[in-house]
Amino acid sequence: MVEPPVTRGKFITLEGGEGTGKSTQAARLKDYLAAEGHNVIVTREPGGSHGAEEIRELLVSGATDRWSPLAETLLFYAARDDHLMKTIRPALNRGQWVICDRFADSTRAYQGAAGNIATDLLHTLEHGVIGADWPELTLIFDLDPEVGLARAGRRLGEVHAEDRFEKKGLAFHARLRQSFLDIAARAPERCVIVDASLDVDQVTHAVTTAVAARFPGAAA
Ligand code: TMP
Repeated sequence: MVEPPVTRGKFITLEGGEGTGKSTQAARLKDYLAAEGHNVIVTREPGGSHGAEEIRELLVSGATDRWSPLAETLLFYAARDDHLMKTIRPALNRGQWVICDRFADSTRAYQGAAGNIATDLLHTLEHGVIGADWPELTLIFDLDPEVGLARAGRRLGEVHAEDRFEKKGLAFHARLRQSFLDIAARAPERCVIVDASLDVDQVTHAVTTAVAARFPGAAA
């Protein structure tokens, strides 16, 4: 018997600065989509596959100046390539929906706008590694970085190994915020800004509303 063709899943990314509540909302969005009848995975960057999680350790721990901006960018893209090949594309091809906590917009914001890596290089890496597999929807969680960093600190406690980026100064995080807003303004067909200062249930409502609007026929 011939199996019916599988409809490719949808790819949704969550982006924003530190402490914006993306991970909580990723889990809630998964529950919402699962209740709609979809098969959903939540994954993250850097990480999301065995090799990429190994690279994550190199990226998120240690001194803030451990890597040059260029080396850091290449490590993020090495991890992203593995994640796309081993986790994201296979899941989409199986018909699963993929919710990813951070993706290429984080590289544009952290390494590009806030870290001064040239846009041309980022475009070349995006072309070679991501190709056509950009997310259909990107939710940009917008929050005053002072609030976000305080939240991240509270959540993570005083001893925290994965804080290379949180340790960068407030000016860096303010540039990041603006950079994410610029990304959203340049790609309005893909990006929706979510006000992450609202309470957690209101943010969930904003997220599910944006998803329902972007995928109107997608109720299973
Ligand atoms: P996380 O705390 O959201 O798991 O992300 C780990 C850190 O890595 C976070 O501070 C943001 C940073 N990051 C980049 O600088 N560039 C990237 O491309 C990604 C995916 C994350």
